[in-house]
Amino acid sequence: MQAPAENIITIVLATGNLDKVKELRPLLENVSPLFKVTTLKELGVEIEVEETEETLEGNALLKARAIFNHLSKTLPFIIALADDTGLEVDALQGAPGVYSARYAPTAEGIAPTYEDNVRHLLHSLNGITNRNARFRTVIALKGSIPSGDNSFGFEHTAEGVVSGSITTEKRGNEGFGYDPLFLVDSTARTYAEMSTAEKNTLSHRALALKKAIADLKNIIENHGTPLTSTQKHQ
Ligand code: IMP
Repeated sequence: MQAPAENIITIVLATGNLDKVKELRPLLENVSPLFKVTTLKELGVEIEVEETEETLEGNALLKARAIFNHLSKTLPFIIALADDTGLEVDALQGAPGVYSARYAPTAEGIAPTYEDNVRHLLHSLNGITNRNARFRTVIALKGSIPSGDNSFGFEHTAEGVVSGSITTEKRGNEGFGYDPLFLVDSTARTYAEMSTAEKNTLSHRALALKKAIADLKNIIENHGTPLTSTQKHQ
């Protein structure tokens, strides 16, 4: 059944990464027929948010707030979803962490490539035997949902963590970023030795998303109008 238009909750994904969108869209649309999942790109909106915070949570919230503030003027019910991810290595006191995208030193104004970061990480751990590490993703949600005759506003974060270790050389050809170096404890394979489908079942991002969706269902159950397409929002 078609959901009444006035009840539609637009979920806006901060990411422009098509692989991430493909992974997120069906999981979110499964929650309710009232959820319409879109991206900034599909809305034709460009919002540049500089990641100036020192925590993953802070940066994810920065992005979610910026999107929410921009779009909530025109969309009555909206949930902005943003994520930030870091690789934390014990022997490097948690580095590169929140700076994972900008780890390898480069000339002023030039962003390092994935390959630069991989090489720099191997170099930093040269001769070190403690290779324990974890990937951490924080997903931030900022939303306004129908609640009886009013709306309910909320901000929430959810975290997903996968434990592993850093290999001494690259293993596997799949994935991106630090995937060829990250050996997942539970599988004894690197992320780059898994198919995308397998990685998406157990990754730090997948765990954070599962948690975020479960939390979102609770928020709606406790504070919002029930999410069925037959429910009329008066
Ligand atoms: P972002 O917050 O998703 O942009 O991630 C920051 C940086 O962490 C990226 O530039 C990658 O280098 C790295 N990264 C994030 N997610 C992954 C992953 O799933 N595998 C490997 N590297 C990742």
